[in-house]
Amino acid sequence: MTTQRQTGSGATIIGWGTALPDTIVTNADLEARLDTNDAWITERTGIRERRHGSTTAALAVRAGRAALDMAGLTGADVDFVLLATTSPDYQIPSTASQVQEELAIAGGACDLNAACSGFVYGLVQAHGLIAMGLGRVLLIGAETLSRVTDQDDRNTAILFGDGAGAVLLEATDHDQLLAFDLGSDGSARTLLDAPIGGYIRMNGKEVFRRAVTVMVDSARASMADAGVTAADLALVVPHQANIRIIEAACSRLEVPTDRVATVLHETGNTSSASIPLALVRALEDGRVGENDLVLLVGFGAGMSWASAVLRWTGRIPEGRT
Ligand code: UT7
Repeated sequence: MTTQRQTGSGATIIGWGTALPDTIVTNADLEARLDTNDAWITERTGIRERRHGSTTAALAVRAGRAALDMAGLTGADVDFVLLATTSPDYQIPSTASQVQEELAIAGGACDLNAACSGFVYGLVQAHGLIAMGLGRVLLIGAETLSRVTDQDDRNTAILFGDGAGAVLLEATDHDQLLAFDLGSDGSARTLLDAPIGGYIRMNGKEVFRRAVTVMVDSARASMADAGVTAADLALVVPHQANIRIIEAACSRLEVPTDRVATVLHETGNTSSASIPLALVRALEDGRVGENDLVLLVGFGAGMSWASAVLRWTGRIPEGRT
């Protein structure tokens, strides 16, 4: 399968989908086997349950197929599949190669690792591929973090879960992406890492502190570049790590909580999958209408950060005009 170049243009999202494993792990389940409790986890993180199971490829295929079905298209109509993940199924080859085969994608396939910022990094790269002439790009964020989390470590086991979210982008004569900001501070990369074959290690307090700052700074940079203010935003879709991080960042940005998308109470932190899971939930709840401004903002290991301002065009979610 090869990717062929057509004409350059803007891009817009024409379909979306998600996938979660069946197994629900509640705070009560964790309380039964770890030195933790439901009240602490809920109060300190906002997380009530997370999903465990499946493989990164299987979740990605389910989410990707749902996005294609929604658009009434098949893999043969797609020129590239870009899979944001920090928990690939194999070291070699890319997990995207399995997704490409199972969805019969007609073009190229690769993984992208920018940790929890991966979906927004991927969104910008998908726009770039379309600007270079591709017709459609399937962007998926998919993770099975339960496999790289020490389930006996209360510092991390309470936080991370598995899941996937996908969007299908198509070339258009206008661009949904108004502005973006991508960043990385490699000097902080040991604050959150997982060695090959090992488990996630995290300095939670320091990650928390930096997360609020980088989210606010990155969101402001993207908004300034797009020529919009926080008051103009219909919806903010932040990385779903901790409700206190989200509230602190949105409070500094002066975005009221009723304009913030959250899903972490049900999913935990699903890294690359967290922003598309929250975005799709908000779309399905009819919280985005035509020409609404949507801010995506993430941060994560690396330390990486990413934000993007979108003007919602193209596919209008059900229930909105
Ligand atoms: O995608 C990016 C990935 N990561 C993040 O965004 C994580 C960012 N960090 C966080 O979300 C928070 O730092 C945590 C949720 C990880 C921890 O919350 P915290 O408010 O920073 O707690 P802490 O580490 O300061 O611990 C406070 C207390 C301590 O007890 P003492 O010393 O006050 O007696 C901990 O030993 O809570 C204790 N503790 C727990 N208690 C029950 C720490 N973890 C737990 C736990 N259950 N799971």
